[in-house]
Amino acid sequence: MAEALCFDMYGTLCDVSSVADAIESELDVPTSLAADVDTLWREKQLEYAFHRGAMGRYEPFDVVTREALDYALDYYGLDATARAALMQAYDDLEPYPDTLDALASLAERHDTVVFSNGTPAMLDALAANTSIDAHVDGLVSADAVEALKPDPAVYEHVASDLGRPIEECRLVSSNAWDVAGASAAGMRTAWVNRANAPAERVGGDADLEVPDLEALAETL
Ligand code: LAC
Repeated sequence: MAEALCFDMYGTLCDVSSVADAIESELDVPTSLAADVDTLWREKQLEYAFHRGAMGRYEPFDVVTREALDYALDYYGLDATARAALMQAYDDLEPYPDTLDALASLAERHDTVVFSNGTPAMLDALAANTSIDAHVDGLVSADAVEALKPDPAVYEHVASDLGRPIEECRLVSSNAWDVAGASAAGMRTAWVNRANAPAERVGGDADLEVPDLEALAETL
């Protein structure tokens, strides 16, 4: 039976660095500073998600994302009045160039869902704005179990939501830590190593490593 492909959203299907354009225009800052704010925003978003998980202090990913943005704006001494506009821009990230064609191809042979920390509202908005929603069978949010990746409960949830044994579900992610978490929970994994990064040293090496989604569609 074909496996179920579970696609991470931020950094895998959509390019989180594409929000730098909105940072540059909303804050009227140089391109290089906008890129620095964007990088720190993403780093803090993930760091806060990990910390909240370890502390047992769950907050939905829109709150974590907003708190990370507040930190990044404060760090660079920038005006926080653009926060609402920047959070809106986060629901309008660019899909990677290979995303839609790869999803369409893979959906011919597999069940496919978006599987993300993003709240249902975040995923509905971004999936609609990018037309990703037309190329997958559904959107699965970690918010349903009030946990964030790499908590095992999140990976167990996607298998339960799909009604499939977890070993028939494959996480597809550009985030190696996400791949490690999925592997630890019993999922198959595919690492979309867009950055050509070295393997992480945290266990859970990917079953499959590809440079982009186009290569994945040629493989699965
Ligand atoms: C997600 C982030 C963690 O989409 O990439 O879940």
